[in-house]
Amino acid sequence: MPNNPYTPGQVPRILAGRTEEMRRIDDLLGRVAAFGEMGGPLLVFHAPRGVGKTSLLRASQRRAEAAGFVTSWTACSRDRPVLPEIVHSVGRALEQADAVPSGPAGNRWRGQLERVTLEVGLPGAKVQAEIGRSEPVTPPPAAVGLLQSLLHDSATVVRKRGGAGLMILLDELHTASSSDLSVLLNTLQNLDGDREETPIATVAAGLPVTPEALTRAATFGERSSFIALDVLSDVDAASALTDPAAAEGVEWTPAALSAVVAEAHGYPYLLQLLGSTTWDSARPASGTKLGMPAVRKGLPAARDQLSAMHRARWGAAGRIEREFLRAMAFCGDGNVTRADIAAGMGRESRAISMPRERLIAKGVIEPVGHGLVRFTLPGFGAFVRGLDDA
Ligand SMILES: Nc1ncnc2c1ncn2[C@@H]1O[C@H](COP(=O)(O)OP(=O)(O)O)[C@@H](O)[C@H]1O
Ligand SMILES: [Mg+2]
Repeated sequence: MPNNPYTPGQVPRILAGRTEEMRRIDDLLGRVAAFGEMGGPLLVFHAPRGVGKTSLLRASQRRAEAAGFVTSWTACSRDRPVLPEIVHSVGRALEQADAVPSGPAGNRWRGQLERVTLEVGLPGAKVQAEIGRSEPVTPPPAAVGLLQSLLHDSATVVRKRGGAGLMILLDELHTASSSDLSVLLNTLQNLDGDREETPIATVAAGLPVTPEALTRAATFGERSSFIALDVLSDVDAASALTDPAAAEGVEWTPAALSAVVAEAHGYPYLLQLLGSTTWDSARPASGTKLGMPAVRKGLPAARDQLSAMHRARWGAAGRIEREFLRAMAFCGDGNVTRADIAAGMGRESRAISMPRERLIAKGVIEPVGHGLVRFTLPGFGAFVRGLDDA
């Protein structure tokens, strides 16, 4: 019996769609590989949770490695200062790729790594940078200088040893502090000034607040390339279901396929979840098909999982945020105007900025232009309305 090939919550076996996004990453890597120079500004993918940022980054990492890059992966988090993590991760990547020179040169490099870690992790530097948070800050030049030479030296070493260059991947970049972002952006900006010198590519992902966070951290933050990642088209959604099954010799009936595609609304996490529950309820043998009965049988498990996610998001919302969510849910499931939400809350439009910003930062709602917002997780509006009935 073939194993369940679906991966709710994990990197997918096969990345569906995303050809345009991959092309952008390939362009960046291609320039580094061909010319041995910096590929371009920081490339940033932003989207709510579950749309496939981490999956895209992981797939591009595999591609880069196959093309001869040494890759460093950092999952940023609010719990730890981000810059020392990046430095560590670059160090580990080079050690693992056997790119660190042996003898005194290697020891010098390791010494440099330690000095940078200390400098970029300095609490003093941080406090200074956090003053006047709404203004772009001038980062401590020592930290920028050290990080810059570390990245330059690391990328150059990779290249000297026959590799294509260094790829830095930064996931959850929105969690980095303003001061860490400021050091990072200033470092990349300086490297870009001497672009021929440093064979490096930097790709990041984060929630929809990421562009704003970067622009706030440095005046030139907006020079990064921002790409909003959307849900999958119906065609790509269908292949997210059929391709992993086909690899196990299993097909989908057209009816079952369209039912799941319609239910998932292009949301990759839901496609994996529904694919998985359908598979588990059918336990298909190779050469058989997944049909409507299996979809129906799998639905309750998928709905349970989804409502657990709804509950978690609700649980993490504060009092005013809940008021906001309730008002929004009763405006309908599509795009909702700020004025309608304010009216529902019985407040002035200006007075709802705080909960709105916080919910966007948490990835529960997302702006869709012209002051409109929508829920990022399908079914969330219905869930909130259901709470009110109770
Ligand atoms: N392009 C894709 N094709 C197939 N599955 C995907 C794709 N992108 C994401 N997924 C699936 O969706 C879920 C969420 O993906 P993830 O990359 O963790 O999203 P994010 O990082 O944006 O929160 C995972 O279960 C993953 O397997
Ligand atoms: Mg992610």
